Parts: sequence; C-alpha cells; structure tokens
Amino acid sequence: MRTLVRETAIELHDFVLPLFVSEKITGRAPVGTMPGVFQLSLEELVKEAVEAHAAGIASVLLFGIPAHKDELASQAYAEEGIVQRAVRALKKECPKLIVITDVCLCEFMVHGHCGIADFDGEDVHVHNDESVELLVKTAVSHASAGADIVAPSDMMDGRIGAIRTGLDEAGFTDTVIMSYAAKFASAFYGPFRDAAESTPQAGDRRGYQMDAANAREALREVELDVEEGADIVMVKPGMPYLDIVWRVKERFGLPTAVYNVSGEYAMIKAAAANGWLDERATVLEQMLAFKRAGADLIITYWARQLAEWLR
Ligand code: PBG
Repeated sequence: MRTLVRETAIELHDFVLPLFVSEKITGRAPVGTMPGVFQLSLEELVKEAVEAHAAGIASVLLFGIPAHKDELASQAYAEEGIVQRAVRALKKECPKLIVITDVCLCEFMVHGHCGIADFDGEDVHVHNDESVELLVKTAVSHASAGADIVAPSDMMDGRIGAIRTGLDEAGFTDTVIMSYAAKFASAFYGPFRDAAESTPQAGDRRGYQMDAANAREALREVELDVEEGADIVMVKPGMPYLDIVWRVKERFGLPTAVYNVSGEYAMIKAAAANGWLDERATVLEQMLAFKRAGADLIITYWARQLAEWLR
C-alpha cells in the first residue's frame, strides 16, 4: 500500500559518480578524509568507470590532478593534459558512458584558486574576464577530447555564455553545459580539496563563491546561467541547501542537479564507522530527500555503493 502512494523514487540513472584521475600516481591512492574514495591512475580510472557502467551507473564526473601546476593553469587546457587523456580513454573503452568534466582551474593553479589571481597577504583578487578566457579553452579542449557534458565549477561571471559561444564556434554545438549555478562558499568542501589537491594557498573562495546566507542571490545566479545557455543547473552543496534546490526547480523547471559534496559524505562515513548511524539507511533517506526537493540528478560519492544497494 505504501508503494502505491509513494510520491518519490530514486533510480540508478539519477546518480553521477565523481572520479579523480591523477597524473602523479600509479595504481590507486586512498583519500584519507573520504573512506572508499581514491585518486586513480589513468589505467585504474578506466577500470573503475567500466565496472561502474556495468553496474548500471550512466555517468561520471571527472576531476584531474596534474603533475605540473603554474600561474596560468596551462595543464587545464593542454591537449595532452590528464583530463583530456582520461576522456579519450574513457570514450574509447566505454563509448556509452556519459562523461562529464569539471571545468575549473583550481587543481591546475599553483595557488589553488579558480581563476588568475593576485594576492595581498590573505586578500585575493581574481581576474574574472582573463580567467573566463582560460575556462573557455578548457571546456573546448574537453569537448574536443570527447566529453559529453562540461560542468564549469569556477563561479566566474559570464563564463556560461562565453563557454557556449566557444563550444559552438569550435563545432561542438551538441555538447551540454551543466553549470554549477548556485555554488556556495562552503566548509563542506574540505575533504574534496584533499582529494583534488586544490586547497587555496592563501585567502578563500568567498570572492567568487556565494554567501551561505543568500537564497535570492542564488536565484539570480541561476537565472544568469540559464540566460547564458546552461542546459542543466546545479546547486551545491546539497544537504544544507535543499531549500535552494526546491526554489531553483520551482522557478526554472530545468533539469536540476545537486552535488552531495565531500563533507556530507565524510560526516555519514565517520558516524557509520563509529556505529552511530546506519550507513545504508541514512544514505537512501538522504537521496530520497534530494529527489523530494526537486533534484533530477544527484552527484554523489555513494553512486557505486547505491548501484549495489538498489540492485
Ligand atoms: C572545484 C570544485 C570543488 C568541488 C567541486 N569542484 C571545490 C571547491 O570549490 O573548493 C567540491 C566538491 C566536493 O566537496 O565534493 N572548484
């Protein structure tokens, strides 16, 4: 009877699995703050993705960790960059897997910020428009390697429109843009920065990511991205921002993604390891809450595990 009247369901195709590919390692390296998550060599990445796809996961979100970082994030848009090589390898081994690439500069910059930056002690000044040019180059290089969806996570102004134009001019008119549209400056990203080696060396990201206090501003951010050509809009983090997911879905009705971020993962993992929470039950409830709030896609480090649980 309960099944008959149930309003929301989670399905395997809702989930996107984030994967970290590193140019610096062979095999796999565990991420200490995220039990069960690994940095992967190119070979391991392909293995992991093929297995996930066979288990029913439709799409992966790719993050790259380069061997070389500089002031212009040159490895972010290098033809032989780690992400570009990884995308080609994934599309070759597993053509049906939907490959989404995170488009950002922070992993590729010496200072770990998402754009070209100057510093005055702990004060950081990011050069928006120059950074957007590099983001366009990055997105086009991902599309040219075969990425199905590019996902800009930098939060520079005007980047969605610039990337759409850049993709179209390069002939990638079918490449989809999933915009990190309402991305908040959040303490919940801590463990990710260990995984992606992208902790800012000075200052913080509050100059370009959003203030946790602002919901109306989130809608304005999303509106701009929609006008500029975003196909899928994302809210991030997830759990503490379900009100934003709800408003974004109600207002725009576009495919809406939510990012169940590293800190949300670490919390439940730590509690479960202590025997304080039932991992499976809490995670399934959490996923249902994302759907109930209006999310169509859920980016989660539990995607692989969910494939087992939902089988
Ligand atoms: C890169 C990026 C971050 C995350 C996704 N893309 C980190 C940040 O903005 O500091 C966070 C993901 C997570 O915490 O799981 N800009």
